Amino acid sequence: MRKKKLMVANWKMNPGSVAEARVLFGKTKLAGGKLDKVETVMCPPFPYLGLFAHAGTTRVSLGAQDVFWANIGRATGEVSPEMLKDVGASYVIVGHSERRALGETDEMVSKKLRAVLAEGLTPIVCVGEKERDVDGKYFDILKNQIKSSLAGIRRTDFREFVIAYEPLWAIGKSAREAMTPRDIRETSIFIRKVLADMYDATTAELPVLLYGGSAEGSNTAAILRDGGVSGLLVGHASLDASGFISMLKSANSI
Ligand code: 13P
Repeated sequence: MRKKKLMVANWKMNPGSVAEARVLFGKTKLAGGKLDKVETVMCPPFPYLGLFAHAGTTRVSLGAQDVFWANIGRATGEVSPEMLKDVGASYVIVGHSERRALGETDEMVSKKLRAVLAEGLTPIVCVGEKERDVDGKYFDILKNQIKSSLAGIRRTDFREFVIAYEPLWAIGKSAREAMTPRDIRETSIFIRKVLADMYDATTAELPVLLYGGSAEGSNTAAILRDGGVSGLLVGHASLDASGFISMLKSANSI
């Protein structure tokens, strides 16, 4: 398991102003910079990325929420891996369920992953089932999603690679409705098994695994301790600086 915890703030389409973004970034960076057992990553919306260009440190990094799969071409509205690298981003979320809901396919996700890796950026690829059925069909759904999203990814690509497991049914709720650490651990083991079948047992251990879906202050420690994951992908709770900082501190103390 990775020694440092990886705590990723996915701000989604927030906050509504540059002024608020600066405050949120500043407070989080200051606190995150003091923690030696956590790497904090902030993923602001595209218009704010430039505000924080090269503001990353060894403890606090900049990430993007999406990317296009090529550096050149006619692609109105898209942002290339090269541009992200140039503003100092080191991580890129790929295939978030909210992007998949807008039409992003596994094939697009795999193209994006390859483009991100080619640029030397670290992808955070999101996978997760929409719902859990009593027959356990969601395991097959998850397996197929992982296999198709990772099409074309080589063993050596996993050295800097993050997989975020985000069950859709647990996103945007409260900690009480998040997945239990026990179920997260079961799914983490399953994801590693799928990778072991696709590659080999050693490769399966390489990617960093995160959990996302209503991670808040109250469930951070339990998930990190018992969930079989090395960090969290945090949505709404990352928008409140003091709440997110307490999550970072809690991760740092594990
Ligand atoms: P919430 O933490 O708001 O549930 O969002 C999770 C998520 O989608 C992070 O990418």
